[in-house]
Amino acid sequence: MSDLPPAWWRDAVIYQIYPRSFADANGDGIGDLPGIRSRLPYLRDLGVDAVWLSPFYLSPQADAGYDVADYRTVDPIFGTVEDARGLVDDAHDVGVRVIVDLVPNHSSDQHVWFQQALAEGPGSPLRERYHFRDGRGDLPPNDWPSIFGGPAWTQVPDGQWYLHLFAPEQPDFNWDHPAVADEFRTILRFWLDLGVDGFRIDVAHGLVKEAGLPDIGADTSWHLLDVGESPCFDRPGVHEIYRGWRRILDEYPGERIAVAEAWAPTLARVADYVRPDELHQAFNFSYMSTAWQVEAQREVIDASLAAMHAVGAPTTWTLSNHDVVRHTNRLMQENQGEVAGRRPTEVDAEAGLRRARAASLLLLALPGSAYLYQGEELGLPEVVDLPASVRQDPAFHRAAGQDGYRDGCRVPIPWSGTAAPYGFGPGSSWLPQPSSWASLSVAAQDGVPGSTLTMYRDALALRRKVLAAGDALTWQDAPGGVLAFERGASFRCLVNMGDGPVTLDAPGELLIASGPVAIENGIATIPPDTASWWSL
Ligand code: BGC
Ligand code: CA
Repeated sequence: MSDLPPAWWRDAVIYQIYPRSFADANGDGIGDLPGIRSRLPYLRDLGVDAVWLSPFYLSPQADAGYDVADYRTVDPIFGTVEDARGLVDDAHDVGVRVIVDLVPNHSSDQHVWFQQALAEGPGSPLRERYHFRDGRGDLPPNDWPSIFGGPAWTQVPDGQWYLHLFAPEQPDFNWDHPAVADEFRTILRFWLDLGVDGFRIDVAHGLVKEAGLPDIGADTSWHLLDVGESPCFDRPGVHEIYRGWRRILDEYPGERIAVAEAWAPTLARVADYVRPDELHQAFNFSYMSTAWQVEAQREVIDASLAAMHAVGAPTTWTLSNHDVVRHTNRLMQENQGEVAGRRPTEVDAEAGLRRARAASLLLLALPGSAYLYQGEELGLPEVVDLPASVRQDPAFHRAAGQDGYRDGCRVPIPWSGTAAPYGFGPGSSWLPQPSSWASLSVAAQDGVPGSTLTMYRDALALRRKVLAAGDALTWQDAPGGVLAFERGASFRCLVNMGDGPVTLDAPGELLIASGPVAIENGIATIPPDTASWWSL
């Protein structure tokens, strides 16, 4: 891939694949690596630069693979290491890079290290690779809550407790232990040697805990996505880990990258993760948490660009992922700015799709790198009515858990046909797909003017052609409710976020719009919740 331009990642479109829900090759109802491999032409035609695959490693699947039992083995439900290698090679052949998920904050409780720690008993050095402590009488060692509900500590039969910021099946590693750091350097190299182009770092802000594991204090209502200062998140020591990883990434040819899932109290603190000697990108959760409203959008776009510019990193933009309510629903809901822990609600599907398409076209016009989540290019809605019996989010049955409603965005992709599983695979699908999804399938939208899939394909192709490099953006005056900016000398984006249509002088040639923009005698009429790109 040496003939590709340098710094490919600075404005890359990176498409998140949730492997169990993308494509199922063997008919067991769960998507797999051969399924993804068979759909590479789709990704090439969509025009993405890279894919990020959520975890496919050996795992008891207590948290859909974010509980890893062996970091160098592919779980048999997803395939084999050879399948992973074949997928990476084939993806490169069609010009798509591959980023894999790395889960360094915790392992599965079935990981051999944790099993050894349990077997060895209190006082064993093998317990020091995790956080084992004696309790306080009958109480856990400190007051930390688990993000999935309940205390962050579980007691083992010999009386000690171990720390798990997530589910009890996900014990936290002790990153002060040199063996943990060594192990992850080796894991990075294993996947880099196999050919991956980078890593998405799960819970990147969580690895280092405050020495002594002090109590949080009276208010323990914080959660992962709403972190102020806390003794378990965003501790200064994490940055040394990433400096070490950057040195490893830089040893490999082809600009291998890492993107941090780092929830930090301010954008400036997020920017610390992407200083020149650390990781390359960090997810912009501030943007994801912003309401559909002109002033709020302008403010967060400016603040994001400024914070990342200050450290020389590109800004990233995301609207959906496997942990949050799909933006087709979320942007229509009350409290649009709360991205997690929200029970999704039914919204007017047509209005939700209109707004989501506008939001996506806006996102794709912004300077930096765009992260898309599988299915958003089809305009899939959140599935809000999954029965409790099929739900698998580990927090669903835990009271006060932060998440619990993450299954509704994980329903398998409809590819074709008129009935479930809509070409997802030859069998069924691990979560039921709504009967209304036939019209949303890839086959139903392929080549259809005006379809959401066509809009994404066109926007991704145009993006390469018409958007200026760099992170400069200039706001333009516009009627109330309209967001207007230019990039370079010849590109303008106009987004009507208001309740009614707006008319204005057409600024040039209309390149693409998320809805029906009318132009008559040089006057453009932009319907509500519609984004448009113009060539000046
Ligand atoms: C992932 C979640 C996962 C959690 C624990 C994250 O933030 O995106 O899906 O449950 O980390 O690994
Ligand atoms: Ca399968």
